[in-house]
Amino acid sequence: MTTLRLRPEDPADTGAVRRVLAAAFARPDVATPPEVGLVDELRGSESWLPALAMVAEYGGEVVGYALLTRVRVHSDQGDVPALALGPVAVARHRQRIGLGTAVVQAALDAATELGERLVVVLGDPAYYRRFGFGRADRMGLTSPWSGLGEPWQALVLPPATGGEGTPPQGEVIFPSPWSKV
Ligand SMILES: CC(C)(COP(=O)(O)OP(=O)(O)OC[C@H]1O[C@@H](n2cnc3c(N)ncnc32)[C@H](O)[C@@H]1OP(=O)(O)O)[C@@H](O)C(=O)NCCC(=O)NCCS
Repeated sequence: MTTLRLRPEDPADTGAVRRVLAAAFARPDVATPPEVGLVDELRGSESWLPALAMVAEYGGEVVGYALLTRVRVHSDQGDVPALALGPVAVARHRQRIGLGTAVVQAALDAATELGERLVVVLGDPAYYRRFGFGRADRMGLTSPWSGLGEPWQALVLPPATGGEGTPPQGEVIFPSPWSKV
């Protein structure tokens, strides 16, 4: 049986992660898709949370990736930390066998354990619905992508330690590497 390991990336995975991203997001008009540079820049930034950069290692090969990095929710009451999900990618020869779902869920579970409360994502609602994401604009969250409507999504994570707490509302501020995509 082929073994699946879901774990945070380590420095030795950088090349494999780049290859997975480059292949999954390949487009005829660019030599290297912007998602590769986005992850490289985030990795060197304050937004990087090492425990929340998750790889899927299948049969000893890194073939899947789900990244959660720090964003802020800005409101009149001040700034509250939250997470952005993305990029999410699975190598083409390993797609449609559940690895994407598994690696995203592993990242979300790790975030819940760390006490994180809110995750935002820009992506296909048909895919992210399975994790519980819903329209972010209806949760009082704005961003440069709010105008896109449905693809701008958010998920409130269950409280890790009991207390409910109100999820933050306001403008989600993405760090500068995100302006590339
Ligand atoms: C999206 C992606 C990560 C899914 O990975 P995966 O390992 O194939 O996903 P899973 O096997 O866990 O799930 C497959 C399911 O997702 C669905 N799915 C895959 N890509 C989808 C997409 N872009 N939109 C909607 N549904 C999608 C499949 O139909 C399948 O549905 P089913 O469970 O009802 O059969 C992968 O297709 C990929 O890397 N795509 C290119 C990069 C990309 O688009 N990333 C996401 C940005 S929003």
